[in-house]
Amino acid sequence: MSMSCHTSVLSTECLSLLSLRSGMIVVDGTLGGGGHTRLLAEAVGPTGLVIAVDRDAAAIERVSQTLQGLPIRYAQANFRDIPEVLDAVGVTAVNGVLLDLGISSDQLADSARGFSFDSQGPLDLRFDPTEGEPAFRLLNRLSAEHLADILFRYGEERFSRRIARKIVAARSQRPIHSACDFASLVSSAVPRTYPPQRIHPATRSFQAMRIEVNEELKSLSIALERIPSRLTAEGRLAVISFHSLEDRLVKTAMRNSQIWATLTRSPIRPSDEEVDRNHRSRSAKLRGAQRLG
Ligand SMILES: C[S@@+](CC[C@H](N)C(=O)[O-])C[C@H]1O[C@@H](n2cnc3c(N)ncnc32)[C@H](O)[C@@H]1O
Repeated sequence: MSMSCHTSVLSTECLSLLSLRSGMIVVDGTLGGGGHTRLLAEAVGPTGLVIAVDRDAAAIERVSQTLQGLPIRYAQANFRDIPEVLDAVGVTAVNGVLLDLGISSDQLADSARGFSFDSQGPLDLRFDPTEGEPAFRLLNRLSAEHLADILFRYGEERFSRRIARKIVAARSQRPIHSACDFASLVSSAVPRTYPPQRIHPATRSFQAMRIEVNEELKSLSIALERIPSRLTAEGRLAVISFHSLEDRLVKTAMRNSQIWATLTRSPIRPSDEEVDRNHRSRSAKLRGAQRLG
């Protein structure tokens, strides 16, 4: 398996928020391409430990081959199950947790997973392809109302109803299967704009189906609720989100002043220089909080 093609977002900012010292134990709940994990492992040094979690077994396989010799333990799990992951490695509490939400460039590049618009592969969209239902099945099964609701809620798609009607009409001819078929179906359902939009017309629909298939918001709320019990006093949580609904969950959780002292009054955004270098970082928002003693 090849090296990761994912560029980590807001790395320096995450590191300084987490304020790690050598010997500390920290969880990276979203291993992805391993960029953040590597920096965390270097910061805690050989006497420390990074517990690196991802739902995607392919991410773990790829990164564990390239990051040898660093103090890292890997777990294929949902970050909402961090307490169980820690129990399995015999760790009661950790000094920090990092969550960098969403998908990695490696997942985007894997055409068998259907994350990219031009993929001929099935529109799967699961982080863990062994769990739950692939997106194409939902497209072929759910009512127009339910589909429109998903596209509107998670994708903030203005044309959710038109797209949903189009899905239902198309699947009565032939089941929807590939990512590129779904992308062109969405494109044909939304009005042409002039000048053309900078993003693909199916961007919001793909995002919405991905969030639904992976129950992303549910995982995040459960994680935000469960993480404090496994952080040491003054342990820190840093979360990078790419979607306003995620950021809202993070902001609300960190406002609970019985648990958290916030470290970021407003979210940290990437610099213009980072956005130029890595376009994917443009919508990133980083928030951090420290557990009260
Ligand atoms: C944006 S990437 C992380 C990139 C990583 N920080 C780096 O520096 O390369 C997000 C990763 O989180 C994983 N992921 C998303 N939701 C998850 C969840 N609920 N539990 C565990 N992993 C999750 C995805 O499979 C993906 O690999």
